[in-house]
Amino acid sequence: MSSPSFPLVFLFCFSILLLLMSTSMQTVSAATTNKACLKTYKKFIKSACNSTTYPKVCYKALSPSASSIKTDTDKLCSIALSFTLNATYNASSSIDSLSKMKGLSPSEKQIINDCAETTGEAIYELENSLKALANLQGSDHKADEMSNLKTWVSAALTDEYTCTDEFDGQKVSKVVKNTIKKKVLNLAKLTSICLALFNLLEY
Ligand SMILES: *[C@@H]1O[C@H](CO)[C@@H](O)[C@H](O)[C@H]1NC(C)=O
Ligand SMILES: *[C@@H]1O[C@H](CO)[C@@H](O)[C@H](O)[C@H]1NC(C)=O
Ligand SMILES: *[C@@H]1O[C@H](CO)[C@@H](O)[C@H](O)[C@H]1NC(C)=O
Repeated sequence: MSSPSFPLVFLFCFSILLLLMSTSMQTVSAATTNKACLKTYKKFIKSACNSTTYPKVCYKALSPSASSIKTDTDKLCSIALSFTLNATYNASSSIDSLSKMKGLSPSEKQIINDCAETTGEAIYELENSLKALANLQGSDHKADEMSNLKTWVSAALTDEYTCTDEFDGQKVSKVVKNTIKKKVLNLAKLTSICLALFNLLEY
């Protein structure tokens, strides 16, 4: 991985920007430089995502936030976590809507209820992770915080799989199965991406 060079590139972008701002042709050139920096930021994300099991999913989720992530690994992780949490809220509301469908069989009701419960737990765990990550910077016990963080996120991942595993061997309508599996498996991917990105944090 070439990540150690990123802060340097960032510094370079930043100093060029400052330099340009102090000259007369600032606006046009600064816009060009901003574009160059954005390219650097996206490259940073691509390289970080490359260390995950789902590089494409990761890049698609994070690249729209390139200008706020810049080349900051902490920020990268907190945005990845926030994106995952948002996707979990979305999955939770889809599961809620499913539960209101008419004509559900008892086994479908059971699965939907269980998935609603595990998704609720995943939300709680991811919210705690986001808090732990926010506390990390100022903490005197970074290694402990990091370990808590990984525990919360791993627990969320386990909850997500508990939901999708329930489908095995059950008679469930396509709409129930597809809706839940699609949403929750996407969540599981995003969650595993967060865990992989945490390994890039140097705590
Ligand atoms: C991604 O990883 C592969 C193999 O590990 C490497 O060949 C490739 O250059 C990497 N791409 C980026 C953008 O870092
Ligand atoms: C998550 O959702 C909130 C509220 O809708 C939004 O402000 C935030 O930008 C979202 N985060 C990401 C990373 O998409
Ligand atoms: C959540 O749902 C909203 C509305 O459907 C959508 O705009 C947003 O992109 C979704 N967020 C994630 C992270 O899937």
